[in-house]
Amino acid sequence: MKIAVFSAKQYDRDSLLKANPGFDLQFIEARLNQQTLPLVAGFDAICVFVNDQLTAEVIEQLKVHGVKHVALRCAGFNNVDLEAAKQAGISVSRVPAYSPEAVAEHTLALILTLNRKLHKAYNRIREANFSIEGLAGFNLHGKTVGLIGTGRIGLATLKILRGFGCQVICHDPVESPQVTEAGGQYVSLDTLFAQADILSLHCPLTPQTHHLIDDSRIRQMKEGVMLINTSRGGLIDTHAVIRGLKTEKIGYLGLDVYEMEGDLFFEDLSTEIIQDDVFLRLLTFPNVFITGHQGFFTEEALTQIANITMNNLKLAEKGQRDEVSFLV
Ligand code: NAI
Repeated sequence: MKIAVFSAKQYDRDSLLKANPGFDLQFIEARLNQQTLPLVAGFDAICVFVNDQLTAEVIEQLKVHGVKHVALRCAGFNNVDLEAAKQAGISVSRVPAYSPEAVAEHTLALILTLNRKLHKAYNRIREANFSIEGLAGFNLHGKTVGLIGTGRIGLATLKILRGFGCQVICHDPVESPQVTEAGGQYVSLDTLFAQADILSLHCPLTPQTHHLIDDSRIRQMKEGVMLINTSRGGLIDTHAVIRGLKTEKIGYLGLDVYEMEGDLFFEDLSTEIIQDDVFLRLLTFPNVFITGHQGFFTEEALTQIANITMNNLKLAEKGQRDEVSFLV
């Protein structure tokens, strides 16, 4: 089977080649979108990542080019029109769980960095400024953390937070006994927003969760709340969050994902002029800390992603599917 791997970075090549059972893999640095579509000609399957755009129009063209399978090498699938894939007879697989701990640990990294102002401390020490004025944080122990979404990553985050001595309140339309066993307490969304000192998002981006964090939800939050998003950028209305930061209702913002990240993340733009004024406004706040969608990025996770993706491709080649990884 001939497979075009889009958005391919060196680390993708390394891990996918290591796991390759013998497929003809062609690595393409470009993202898949309307402009790069002609590159799929001659391939049986494509392998894509979070910011490749698989709209209905793109999928229609994949069919014309004879592509039979789309293998996502990520968990989220909000960038794929699944209905269009179904109509086109193209199967779609993903990597539902590769290392929830990777993202959960990154969530804690954001919380701890913002709280103890490590991003400020790093620069101060490098400039021989040993003053600790303005670096005071708070004890995580005893604080209330609200988790929205208690799937794999939410649960892994809950377990770490319990180790810190936090009280963890959760909301998820599907309540899991594992969460209560691990010490989490399910509450309504209104209670969660009203009580959480720290709010962390771990639900998928769907039409229902798009801009889940908007002006009205921000009004419900505690003064000086810490908001963390390692899930998908579209869960947050960025303009509303900027308003919340300006009024100091939001005391800390930690992001690993951003609504318009498709134009920025995963590329070295250090010599270019960034045109996204909203993103640049976020960078001006001292209490905002942003990483560029690296929550998943651990050795263990890359190996798992590569192994599961290859397994999905093997199944697709045989015309088989498994209920967990195959979306269509
Ligand atoms: P999962 O499918 O195990 O859990 C998602 C949970 O969200 C489910 O329990 C579901 O019932 C819940 N949910 C759905 N709608 C909800 C709503 N309206 N309110 C509250 N909860 C809702 O997914 P997993 O593995 O925990 O991943 C969560 C998200 O994390 C993914 O959808 C993906 O967007 C993001 N992610 C980010 C990564 C990164 O590198 N930053 C890497 C991997 C995933």
